[in-house]
Amino acid sequence: MRRPFVVGNWKMNTDRDGAVALARAVASNAQDATAEVVVCPPFPWIVSIAESVDRNTLRIGAQDCSQNDDGAFTGDVSAAMLSTWCDLVLVGHSERRTIHGETDETVSAKLRAALDHDLHAVLCVGEQMQDRKAGKAASVVTSQLDSAFALSGGSGASGTVTIAYEPVWAIGTDAAATPGDALEMANVIRAWLRDQDPATADTTRILYGGSVSDRNASDLMAVDQIDGLLVGSASLDAAIFGRIIAAVSGS
Ligand code: PGA
Repeated sequence: MRRPFVVGNWKMNTDRDGAVALARAVASNAQDATAEVVVCPPFPWIVSIAESVDRNTLRIGAQDCSQNDDGAFTGDVSAAMLSTWCDLVLVGHSERRTIHGETDETVSAKLRAALDHDLHAVLCVGEQMQDRKAGKAASVVTSQLDSAFALSGGSGASGTVTIAYEPVWAIGTDAAATPGDALEMANVIRAWLRDQDPATADTTRILYGGSVSDRNASDLMAVDQIDGLLVGSASLDAAIFGRIIAAVSGS
């Protein structure tokens, strides 16, 4: 049984007071939800939020972590540091891959660092539009999965990793994937998981992300093999995110 899962990625938005207020409002909406609810605030607000909400109701995630534990890495934050305040970390988000030039090797090292420090990892994979047009969506995603798990073992997905399918062309565009496209790719990811470890493949959750809103959340959640949603801009409004939490919870 895979518990429905909804993650709000705030990216580089909010100020301190707004972040704490938003987290409290989300926690209140999450109170009776059957879904597991997580928010990923910017690094500087993580501690204030962790001290302001009940982490059994609202889990806290980071948007990124370093692959290194400590040392001369100016500006980086390690998984070890995050594990004090966070339950989870996003790894390999497309904005990290494209804007910050993270390679598949870096993503793999970050995934291993997260798992080494007992952070649940949400590994983001997804193709660019030119890959999709060239019929390469499935092969790009399976190759990202192969590379990401290269350092932590092909079966490392069980229990501690969630896979987020986020087609790059759908992120921040108001043009989410259709349920049909989401189904096709979720099936590709489930098949990959089964190839790695049939015993645990069906316990790993698969999320969809990319222009999720309160208007399309129910349709995306109706897709077989989609266990939850990774939400960017719509997670910055507590009322909208509250409706998405309800849709993911099936209520
Ligand atoms: P979006 O972002 O919902 O604003 O498209 C999703 C994401 O980047 O995780």
